[in-house]
Amino acid sequence: MRLKHKTALITGGSSGIGRETAILFAHEGARVVVVDVDDTRGNETVDHILKLGGEACYMHADVSKAEACANMIDVAEKTYGALHILFNNAGIMHNDDGDAVSTEEAIWDLTMNINVKGVFFGCKYGIPAIRRAGGGSIINTASFVAHLGAATPQLAYTASKGAVLALSRELAIIHARENIRVNALCPGPLRTELLMKFLDTDAKKQRRLVHIPMGRFGEAKEMAQAALYLASDESSYVTGTEFLVDGGITAAYVTPE
Ligand SMILES: NC(=O)c1ccc[n+]([C@@H]2O[C@H](COP(=O)([O-])OP(=O)(O)OC[C@H]3O[C@@H](n4cnc5c(N)ncnc54)[C@H](O)[C@@H]3O)[C@@H](O)[C@H]2O)c1
Repeated sequence: MRLKHKTALITGGSSGIGRETAILFAHEGARVVVVDVDDTRGNETVDHILKLGGEACYMHADVSKAEACANMIDVAEKTYGALHILFNNAGIMHNDDGDAVSTEEAIWDLTMNINVKGVFFGCKYGIPAIRRAGGGSIINTASFVAHLGAATPQLAYTASKGAVLALSRELAIIHARENIRVNALCPGPLRTELLMKFLDTDAKKQRRLVHIPMGRFGEAKEMAQAALYLASDESSYVTGTEFLVDGGITAAYVTPE
């Protein structure tokens, strides 16, 4: 087991990447705190883990709220004694997120508050806990759009993921000598609810698929495997990286026929 005796907190654990990662981390021996605003599906994730013989609990927290983030870290420490792995993964992609002209200020603020401030709060309250545990691993979910511009505009989302990547790098340097590693996971386009709701027609899906050398969307389970590597001691010399798991999209100039 690659995460035995570790406690992991995963935000956005009710769905997609977060859910699959919670299940995989528990399978690898971690005690998992599943955090989300979708309580029904969060509890369902935990039930699933418990049925498989794993250890997990659910905690409601809106990551854009400071007090909620302070509480979630507190619950992790009080329930399992220490926090070693923090996966700041919750995020949104709003359907009304467009270009600079069309995007309303409220959509910009909502996206930034969840996608960026949520990661900041996770780190703000999580880093002291990880320090108390003697060190650990922080994984922040950014995106391939932190590296590439897209013709299907989602300006607030893209800017938010650029910010996550930049803050992850800087935190990695700040905490490098405290045995706290900080890495950004940069998924490519995935077949999860978040993207499928945004690319809500076949034409929009095709427009994205045509750029992916592998010719398919990625799966949440494939991101969970990448997160497992970054969480485990196998990545002990990896910090400050932008771990692209993207079907080759950022490597491509022209995709194969
Ligand atoms: N799906 C993709 O193509 C893709 C690509 C790159 C990056 N990402 C990023 O991966 C992460 C996970 O996305 P996913 O595809 O698994 O999406 P998803 O929609 O399946 O899951 C996201 C989860 O976050 C939760 N959430 C939303 N707002 C929250 C808040 N304020 N507080 C707590 N939880 C909240 C949702 O309830 C949901 O359970 C996001 O940060 C997303 O931006 C996704």
